[in-house]
Amino acid sequence: MPSDQTHYKVGYFIGSLSSTSINRVLSRALFTLAPPELEFTEIPIGNLPLYSPDFDSDYPPEARTLKDAIKASDAVLFITPEYNRSIPGALKNAIDWASRPWGQNSFDHVPAAVIGASPGQIGTAVGQQSLRAVLSFCNARQMTAPEAYVHFRPGLFTDTGEVTDDSTAAFLRDFMQEFHDHVERVLTVLPRS
Ligand code: FNR
Repeated sequence: MPSDQTHYKVGYFIGSLSSTSINRVLSRALFTLAPPELEFTEIPIGNLPLYSPDFDSDYPPEARTLKDAIKASDAVLFITPEYNRSIPGALKNAIDWASRPWGQNSFDHVPAAVIGASPGQIGTAVGQQSLRAVLSFCNARQMTAPEAYVHFRPGLFTDTGEVTDDSTAAFLRDFMQEFHDHVERVLTVLPRS
């Protein structure tokens, strides 16, 4: 069951399967900077088979686990790279699983936010627009502002999640505070059952 409404359980998705993912490094920084009322649990996506409607009558255990994890979360956070100006396939596959079977969309009314890092200057901006369009169709309650496009440079983060640049740290801390406030606001009118 979702938690009481002073603390919030956040299920987070890392859109990369890379063992050296810069987005996973970013996630560690976000958890360090987030308000203490947010508790983070990863929702893994790497073990899911490819979605097919053939599974709708009998979901495999990995997909049930995915849907159960979202159900147990008060909110979801996507920390993802941009692949070819869009969403990494593994992440899209996970979202497709969670959105089905028809009528059992796991994202319906769930508070959500999107953030990502790239070595490129525009820091996943285009990929995030793709993801936002998908989450919009899935009826997730997205935080629309602030947006966060992180230009990843070597040395910006330590492996343990410290941010070495003060202005980046302040920006990410503000992003997570805004996410907390967004979650609180959405759940006030749309409590998770
Ligand atoms: C990329 N990369 C990339 N970067 C970007 O800014 N825009 C893009 O469209 C793409 N496209 C893309 C496609 C594919 C298949 C790969 C493997 C990579 C580069 C990407 O930002 C870089 O590899 C990041 O390190 C990926 O994030 P993770 O996996 O390290 O978290």
